[in-house]
Amino acid sequence: MKIVRLEEAASGPLDCEENAFTSSEVFDILLVDGKIRLTARNVEQFTKTYAAEEAPTEDVESYGAFVNGALAGKIDLTTAWNDLGSIEQIVVARGLRQHGIATGLIDFAKSWAVGKQLKGLRLETQTNNVAACKLYLRNGFEIGGFDRFVYRTQEEVANETALYWYWFPERQNSKNN
Ligand SMILES: CC(C)(COP(=O)(O)OP(=O)(O)OC[C@H]1O[C@@H](n2cnc3c(N)ncnc32)[C@H](O)[C@@H]1OP(=O)(O)O)[C@@H](O)C(=O)NCCC(=O)NCCS
Repeated sequence: MKIVRLEEAASGPLDCEENAFTSSEVFDILLVDGKIRLTARNVEQFTKTYAAEEAPTEDVESYGAFVNGALAGKIDLTTAWNDLGSIEQIVVARGLRQHGIATGLIDFAKSWAVGKQLKGLRLETQTNNVAACKLYLRNGFEIGGFDRFVYRTQEEVANETALYWYWFPERQNSKNN
């Protein structure tokens, strides 16, 4: 796999029909000793498609993961006000999932952040995106908080709960706080 900067922020199918997943489980949030934990619950199978950005956000750098010369996945990165890198989007083509491509893109994002002297990474996902949550957990991210109302005004996603994830290099060996 080769990861290279994409000139165009938008990358066709990866920003539209491929930016979707099908699942039959969601996460519920538990608070245990003040810490946020996730517990899986089975639901009727559903498919969610992320809405394409109407206009690329300013200062976003897009990187593509190429496998055998073809664009297999992408990650959009920017710098947040609090000295953290922000993963704005990560997506892998449906037929190429479960091969470590997103993990490779996250490793790349970690190096990108460290190279820019940033203090870590942040991103947002939703409790119904179990695959993405597992990906972040496995890659050393921790949940900083959640928001039950941030999508409440958006009809299609009104009942979704946002989860805010953080990766701090210095916490990788001491995750008990
Ligand atoms: C979430 C998403 C980016 C993950 O991409 P991915 O390339 O499948 O992720 P990875 O392959 O790195 O890891 C996913 C799984 O594959 C497994 N895996 C990794 N390498 C593997 C390999 N060589 N062989 C088999 N399985 C492997 C991982 O262990 C992981 O398993 P788990 O889900 O049981 O924990 C992808 O599902 C996607 O594009 N979803 C739609 C868009 C989306 O939801 N983006 C996130 C928005 S916040």
